[in-house]
Amino acid sequence: MKKILITGGAGFIGSHVVRRFVTQYPEYQIYNLDALTYAGNLENLRDIEDASNYTFVKGDITDAEFIDGLFLENEFYGVIHLAAESHVDRSISDPMAFVVTNVLGTANLLNAAKKSWKETLPAHRFYHVSTDEVYGELHDPAEFFLETTKYDPRSPYSASKAASDHFVRAYHNTYGLPIVISNCSNNYGPNHFPEKLIPLMIHNIIHNKPLPVYGKGENIRDWLFVEDHARAIDVIFHKGNIGETYNIGGHNEWKNLDLVFLLCETMDRKLGRESGTSEKLITYVTDRAGHDLRYAIDATKLKTELGWEPSLQFAEGLERTVDWYLSNSEWLENVTSGSYQKYYEAMYESK
Ligand code: NAD
Ligand code: TYD
Repeated sequence: MKKILITGGAGFIGSHVVRRFVTQYPEYQIYNLDALTYAGNLENLRDIEDASNYTFVKGDITDAEFIDGLFLENEFYGVIHLAAESHVDRSISDPMAFVVTNVLGTANLLNAAKKSWKETLPAHRFYHVSTDEVYGELHDPAEFFLETTKYDPRSPYSASKAASDHFVRAYHNTYGLPIVISNCSNNYGPNHFPEKLIPLMIHNIIHNKPLPVYGKGENIRDWLFVEDHARAIDVIFHKGNIGETYNIGGHNEWKNLDLVFLLCETMDRKLGRESGTSEKLITYVTDRAGHDLRYAIDATKLKTELGWEPSLQFAEGLERTVDWYLSNSEWLENVTSGSYQKYYEAMYESK
């Protein structure tokens, strides 16, 4: 059986990737390496945790000795690297955590792969999952991020992801490590941690709490359903050309305020509240520092070269997402209680 190491598999996107690989590829032994930070939650994987081709390893990618040991013990065929600090607001209040996890952690994995694969390099594959935020922001509505767009990261989060992308390419160029990178737009869907826009709004609407819209709510994001991202990762891992980058996007741009209105309407309908009830909770708060105006992906390369395109319309994806949160209230309450609650409340009060 081929061993595949997936890092960050207990997080939002990682859990969907782990589930897809465990269920679709019985010929792989999937190792999920996760430090279980505030964002990692094994509840996300309850349905597959007993599968015979699944192994969970608790460990930290910033611990070089541990990572080296893991690669020596296991001859991994491939790596799909998702573990990261992923929230822009946290990167503004604690940038060093992003340098350590996203840059040093990625370099540790690259080093371990390079050392343990040295005799058989071409037979392996190191896949780095990255973000469209490395390209900076767009102003011209006719412009989109292409794989050739110059990097221009503007937040500590995007700067740390850009740095990790550069390290991945450097290991390919310098040592011949067989790498592939994808840069994806904003994801949404089940298991999304409620510090990010969509799950935060869903949570606050349920609890009749204010809905904090940064600035005037004019920033634009390109939303993709998380299972479509997991499917793109599958396609790129198996068919992507070594050394290449693929942009992944939903072709689905929404101004934040319009999206919050849509969520309010959807939630009012689902909760049996009178139309217009939840939008009264919208509260305009101080804008995020350095807030990127617009992200929008051109995913033509992925479509023409590897045949991937998003499968789900946004209306359907959002309904599925809202339904998931409403029928998994225990998940939602668990991740917003306990030690996380303190952070959440402090952050919430500052909005
Ligand atoms: P997440 O914050 O939900 O999950 C991150 C996971 O990584 C958690 O399970 C956490 O425990 C784990 N982790 C963090 N630090 C670790 C460490 N030092 N060692 C081991 N594990 C550690 O993140 P996500 O939203 O699922 O994003 C996953 C990846 O996809 C990230 O690399 C992110 O940059 C990228 N990405 C995210 C989006 C998005 O919209 N969420 C879009 C494009 C790309
Ligand atoms: P977020 O989900 O944090 O993703 P990212 O910053 O990586 O795109 O935020 C999405 C957009 O929503 C972004 O423009 C910031 C905005 N936003 C709010 O207006 N209010 C909030 O409470 C949050 C978390 C985000």
